[in-house]
Amino acid sequence: MSTQGKDEAAKRRRGRHTVPEIAARKGGEPVVCLTAYSAPFARLLDPYCDLLLVGDSMGMALYGMDTTLGVTLDMIIAHGRAVVRGSARALVVLDMPFGTFEASPEEAFRNAARALAETGAQAIKLEGGAEMAPTVRFLVERGIPVMGHVGLRPQSVHSIGGYAAQGRRRAEWAPILADAQAVAEAGAFATVVEGVAEPLAREIAAKTANLIIGIGASAACDGQILVTEDMLGLFDWAPRFVKPYAELGGVIADAVARFAADVRARRFPGDDQTYGMRDEQDPA
Ligand code: KIV
Repeated sequence: MSTQGKDEAAKRRRGRHTVPEIAARKGGEPVVCLTAYSAPFARLLDPYCDLLLVGDSMGMALYGMDTTLGVTLDMIIAHGRAVVRGSARALVVLDMPFGTFEASPEEAFRNAARALAETGAQAIKLEGGAEMAPTVRFLVERGIPVMGHVGLRPQSVHSIGGYAAQGRRRAEWAPILADAQAVAEAGAFATVVEGVAEPLAREIAAKTANLIIGIGASAACDGQILVTEDMLGLFDWAPRFVKPYAELGGVIADAVARFAADVRARRFPGDDQTYGMRDEQDPA
């Protein structure tokens, strides 16, 4: 086994990262996070990621929806189970879909508890700022680790009117900073800050006690998250803040085109992929 392989095997034996372990990384080594929705992807990402988010971005990335609003708790639970099965080291966080946590802290608790119990994931994430702080506190006090999500909130797309970056004028800073601080003070171990200008992200990271995970929020944050399919280049379009680490869309299209040509020309399956008859005398 290679040295890297041995390191990975040793890591797997040590078990999953815990919420307190990840929370303690505030101001330290940046926390590496990606979204995951399936067991095979979770298996590929797990050796390199500290945290895997079963995000409601699956609505767009997996189901071809226009927004995240159609994602249900049952979808998060089904995909969450797969991600927990496919991973061994990363902390697994479940996104609470639109409409499952806003009405009351009690409803948020029932839904979050069900999702954690049915998946084996360790924490939930919910979108919202100061107005959701009482719910965050309610969940945390009852044993549910919570990750907040402030700045650009995709579940509020219809109220905001789009997915534009936030806080690009100083006059917009105060409510976003206040949201991040309210969620942190309510006990969220981490907060995703999405789509905000770099100086505001820096201010939030400096003025909140919890871990700040950025997406489109500059390198000033305590960690970074991206939608995995975006950074792998699976789609024709990705937000400006995504760095394409691969161009898998092209790789897949090329492979499928070659498969289709082989099938049409009867080059596939070839001898290597075809079963012959066994020797009638051979008992095996
Ligand atoms: O749903 C999601 O994947 C998210 C991340 C992009 C932070 O909320």
